[in-house]
Amino acid sequence: MSNVRLRTMFTGLLAVLIAGCVGADKSSQQAVQDITLDENTFGCITDMTRVNQMYVDNLLGNSAGTIEVAEKGGTFPVGSALRLIPDEIMVKGKSGSHPVTGDWMFVRLDYDKDKGTQEVTTGYEEVTNFLNLTCFSCHVVAGAKHDFVCGDKEGNKNCAEVPFDRPMLHALQNTDPRCESQGDVSPEDTEALAKLQKIVEELLSK
Ligand code: HEC
Repeated sequence: MSNVRLRTMFTGLLAVLIAGCVGADKSSQQAVQDITLDENTFGCITDMTRVNQMYVDNLLGNSAGTIEVAEKGGTFPVGSALRLIPDEIMVKGKSGSHPVTGDWMFVRLDYDKDKGTQEVTTGYEEVTNFLNLTCFSCHVVAGAKHDFVCGDKEGNKNCAEVPFDRPMLHALQNTDPRCESQGDVSPEDTEALAKLQKIVEELLSK
């Protein structure tokens, strides 16, 4: 199955699931940001450090600090970048830069492998995923208590339930089209992707 098809499916899945969430218009880029992100900031997801279910990094060099919080919990240090699905990233800005979101910037990537281009959308409450649903509408549920992070190492404990499981998410990570050395998809990932496809098709047929 191609990644484009998979992403379309995943997008469809979210559309069905989050129909109740608040949609938001695609708004202009946030004018003031304390960390500069461009199309080259985020490449292959597996080049970052895997901690449990997600991949992490620190754009200001403090990877040790980010990894420690990813492992033990707490409030992430400035510069932290968290990535679960290859196209969706949270980046921690300077303390006090945007208190409503716990200083997190939400980042969406629109990658085109054929053209070799990557569009980067960054901002705060207004940033949407591919379906015009705001990242924040879900992550706000986790709240400041969990530093707006939905998942923990055992599962999605802090936000509303979503019917895709970790094997499906890992299969998406393992098939990130930005990664150069893409070998054959493992039997486990193939199975997870097939399950994901089925869930999406069932939801869309209702
Ligand atoms: C449907 C609600 C929903 C929307 C919309 C959503 N997320 Fe999430 N997000 C979740 C859930 C639930 C998890 C945890 C899943 C898990 O750990 O198994 C998650 C996990 C993440 C993680 C890993 C850290 C964490 O919170 O567990 C990142 C990073 C992330 N999302 C970024 C984004 C970005 C960026 C957007 C918008 C482009 C976005 N998300 C939109 C629900 C959502």
